[in-house]
Amino acid sequence: MKRREFIKLSGWSTGSVLAGSTVLAFLASCRKHDMGGMNMNGEPVEVIEGAFTKLLPIPQEATATAPLTAQAVSANISGNNVAALGYSANGILGPTIRLNQGGNVNINFRNALSEKTNIHWHGLKIPAAMDGHPESIVNAGSSFNFLFPVTQRAALCWYHPHADGTTAKQVANGLAGLFIINDSEESSLNLPSGSNELPLVIQDKKLTASGIQYNPAGDEIMTGYIGETVMVNGAASPYAEVATRYYRLRILNGSNARIYNLALSNNANFVVIGNEGGLLPQPVSTKFVLLSPGERLDVLVNFAGQAVGSEVFLESRAFTGAGTAQGQQSFRIMKFKVTQQVNDSFVVPSTLSTITPLSASAASRTRTFTLDVMQMSGGMNMGGMHQINGKVYDAMRIDETVAAGALELWEFDNQTDEPHPMHLHGVQFQVLQRTGGRNQLLPSEGGWKDTVLLLPKEKVRILVPFGNERGVFVMHCHNLEHEEDGMMLQFEIV
Ligand code: C2O
Ligand code: CU
Ligand code: CU
Repeated sequence: MKRREFIKLSGWSTGSVLAGSTVLAFLASCRKHDMGGMNMNGEPVEVIEGAFTKLLPIPQEATATAPLTAQAVSANISGNNVAALGYSANGILGPTIRLNQGGNVNINFRNALSEKTNIHWHGLKIPAAMDGHPESIVNAGSSFNFLFPVTQRAALCWYHPHADGTTAKQVANGLAGLFIINDSEESSLNLPSGSNELPLVIQDKKLTASGIQYNPAGDEIMTGYIGETVMVNGAASPYAEVATRYYRLRILNGSNARIYNLALSNNANFVVIGNEGGLLPQPVSTKFVLLSPGERLDVLVNFAGQAVGSEVFLESRAFTGAGTAQGQQSFRIMKFKVTQQVNDSFVVPSTLSTITPLSASAASRTRTFTLDVMQMSGGMNMGGMHQINGKVYDAMRIDETVAAGALELWEFDNQTDEPHPMHLHGVQFQVLQRTGGRNQLLPSEGGWKDTVLLLPKEKVRILVPFGNERGVFVMHCHNLEHEEDGMMLQFEIV
């Protein structure tokens, strides 16, 4: 019996053994009902801002052939050193791996943790055997050689652990890193680079004097694990010094569950130039971007016109429609301190890339995925509450079989009162339509994506060109507590 099924059976029938059919009947009666009248969407966790006096750390860059070791590290997140996890001895997180399109990854990965882990390359179109499937584990003390070519276009991807049962905890404790692909199309645009290109990994943590806490209670499985400390690149409430020019911000929401409604305190525009799968066809200006766990954003921000000495904050503004635990508060994430007057000749290109829109009529089939949650009351903490098509993740079951190279239309239907950022491994897709809820697509949802947010009662249709590499991949909610709770299915490309 799988652990999750055991918890499901044992959690609420202390001392008695229920026959399978009784269990099914009871589970069916729970579905979609709030049996005790409790608010199961959860309470928000208030962000406590720091002083914005710590300089923004920039993760070291590494080549795609440098080894990585998952290990216990000491990290200075907000003043004192705490225990965390990292992919190098330097501290929390991992190096930013950078390589050119056409290059090869050849990374010797060692697991120096005391439990299983692995690495999933989020956003990369690579063979299933290299993708970090939840069952492709690297045991404590073991190593694995990740070896694969990177053929896709320029993009900001990332890597993180993905072993079944330890993903959410290990990510929360610090295991994550950026993976940047460059190509000639992107470099011909002469976008801000070097110290004018800032990677920003945004993550919230529950932090105490003894370190990062990770011990989700039942209601935190419903909301996802949300913390009071918001850090960027491993530092709480940091600041960066900027000059009066354009910067390129490469943003990852690497949080377990928290969604940010990004904005600038001076109400300046973000010029969105890309997302998970790389550049958009044209830049789009917007003042707000809702960014959910797993999603990335490539934006230009112009500090020209700001007086030396002025300060601009990257903020998250309150938002609605995302359930009771999210969006209730506006808070500041990091500070940009304008310290230098320069002349900037950069002009935002009017065209960035060419993206041919896929057509729904070309899809060979449509699959529907209903996101559902079984609401229980009385503080019963059982597994498997978050489901897709009435199922929780089972490594022994292939849920969908997809023909290699097929173009398919996948529809997600969020019937719950919680947000769910849905993510597919091994592909980049186009978002076709959102109905219900916000009833529209955001400017940041054009181009190619690998994660798409569904707020409560939303339906989202995506067009997915599957690759030719055969093998088993997963798709799941990137609220990592939902994922660990079973909101994940397997698809096999045959
Ligand atoms: Cu970043 Cu399976 O995910
Ligand atoms: Cu992924
Ligand atoms: Cu979810």
